[in-house]
This record gives sequence, C-alpha cells and structure tokens, in this order.
Amino acid sequence: MTTQEEGRAPLLTVEHLTMRFGGLTAVDDVSFSAFRDEITAVIGPNGAGKTTVFNCLTGFYKPSAGNLIIHGSGEALRLDRLQGFRIARRARVARTFQNVRLFGGMTVLENLIVAQHNALMAASGFSIAGLFGLPHYRAAERAAIERARYWLDKLGLTERADTLAGELPYGAQRRLEIARALCTGPVLLCLDEPAAGLNPRESSVLNDLLLAIRAEERIGILLIEHDMSVVMGISDHVIVLDYGRKIADGTPAEVRANPGVIAAYLGEDDVAIGADAGEVILTPAQAGVQWQPGGPPDPGFPLPRE
Ligand SMILES: Nc1ncnc2c1ncn2[C@@H]1O[C@H](COP(=O)(O)OP(=O)(O)OP(=O)(O)O)[C@@H](O)[C@H]1O
Ligand SMILES: [Mg+2]
Repeated sequence: MTTQEEGRAPLLTVEHLTMRFGGLTAVDDVSFSAFRDEITAVIGPNGAGKTTVFNCLTGFYKPSAGNLIIHGSGEALRLDRLQGFRIARRARVARTFQNVRLFGGMTVLENLIVAQHNALMAASGFSIAGLFGLPHYRAAERAAIERARYWLDKLGLTERADTLAGELPYGAQRRLEIARALCTGPVLLCLDEPAAGLNPRESSVLNDLLLAIRAEERIGILLIEHDMSVVMGISDHVIVLDYGRKIADGTPAEVRANPGVIAAYLGEDDVAIGADAGEVILTPAQAGVQWQPGGPPDPGFPLPRE
C-alpha cells in the first residue's frame, strides 16, 4: 500500500495478478488499487502488459493467478470469477479498446443504444411479446435514449447523432467509444490509450473531458496512456509496468522522480532531465509511442490464442 492509499477504501483491488501465455509471463504478480473519483494511470513501454491487465479486468482473459476485486455497488465482486459478459452489467466495469471498435455501419446514436442491449433485453423479459408490448420495455427504451443523449451531449457528439460511426473523424470516434462505455453506467471506466492518434487540440479536449467525468460522475477511471503530458497532467495516481512487473506506484510527482522508473522504464540514455533535477521530459518516441500521422497506432491488442 502506498502512502497515498492509507485509510481509504479502494474501488478496485488487484492482488498478485499473473497472466501467462505459454512460456511468456505478460503480467507478473502485479498488485495495485484504484479509487473512486480518481484517475489512475497505467504506464509502461510497449509490451509491458498494460492491455493484458485490462483484458483480465474485463473478462477477455482468465488470469493465470491472482484476485481482482471490485467494490463498486456495495458488495465486493471477484472479477476473475465472473463470466466475461457479466462483468459490464453486474460488476459495472466498462472499457474502450486500444484500437477503435465501433459498429461503423450504425449511427452514433445506434451505437449507444446497442451498448445498452443488456438492460433493454432484461426489460423485455427476454421475449418477443416483451419487445413489442410491455410498458416496461418502452420505459427502458426511453431511458436508454435519454442516457445516450446525455452522453452525446457531454462528449460533444450531439450534432453527429445521426452520422454513421464509420464516417466520423478519428477523434470523434474515440469520444464515441468513451460515450458507449459510459452508457452502460460503469463504476470503473478502463480507457486503453484514448489519446493515441489524436492531435494536440483533440488530446487537450479529451483531458478536459476526463477531468469533468472524474469530477461529476463518482466513478474511477483507469487510464492506459503513453503521452506523459496527459499522464502527469490529469492522473491522481500512476502505476508503472515493465516487462509485466510493477516497478513503481505513486503520485505523478513521485513516479516522475523515481530513479527505478527513470532507469528501467525510460532507459537512462533516452531521458532528458528538465530544469528541476530529476524531472523527466520525454518525446513521444522516447515514451514508446509509434506516431503514425493521420491514423491510429499499430494494433496492440492480440486476440486470445485458443
Ligand atoms: N493473447 C496473447 N497471446 C500471446 N501473447 C500475448 C497475448 N496477449 C498479449 N501477449 C503478449 O503479452 C505481452 C504484453 O502485451 P500487452 O498487449 O499487454 O502490452 P501493452 O503494455 O499493452 O503494450 P502496448 O503499449 O504496445 O499496447 C506482449 O509481449 C504481448 O505480445
Ligand atoms: Mg496495449
């Protein structure tokens, strides 16, 4: 437990998480906590295991070992024991992907309604009669549209509601992914490199959005991010992974000054020391970002190998 965490009840507790793929240990005995009303950044070089942590949290992978506990809705739930499809609804953990995954042939609004499929199906009583007749279902449908409108407005997408998702500019697609995750009413929102491929203006809009969500929604945000200005600017708490292991955990200032992070994660030769001794200034390339003008970065989300 870090000094920052003493005496506070966590929203998420990750205990000794390990994920192995054959002979490769992608995540190696990692423990950390995340809190409500906070942005917790997970950083580390390419291949450090960041997305794999998210895949374990959201049920895409079953961890090889460890406990993942969410304390969101009054009860403690073990994410590692829930089936993947129950994690969004029951545990209220939602995510976005490193590479945008939207229904490109559906409108922006439709994407947000589909995201609420679980709630709508439950209201239908899982029957055709329910779908067509029950007032219950119609009320749920109205609520789903209301929620969609709320998040469209918050994320500046209202004017695009009827645009096909596939025709949106890239920055708007990334915001739509976040809106889609928020429509499911999460207590924990996991964002996998939401700023990747954004220009500086879009990236700054995104920062403001994340800060507003943190201030207004009473949820926790787990953020994988390569851009150090974003990490240092908006995170309350930073976890650093390297080769699957956690090498630092603390406030942005603590992590930035951590010699282990400077040496192991950043690579001593690559680091420029800023005006304040110990301050790290990174170019995107040094931070491990492969910048590709005009488009999203390389796929970094390998599918499970059966
Ligand atoms: N399904 C899988 N099968 C085999 N190896 C995998 C699988 N998923 C991830 N890995 C490996 O686990 C390691 C961690 O990958 P992960 O995608 O979690 O890294 P990351 O920190 O998200 O990196 P990046 O910054 O590039 O997105 C990598 O070596 C990756 O190749
Ligand atoms: Mg990744």
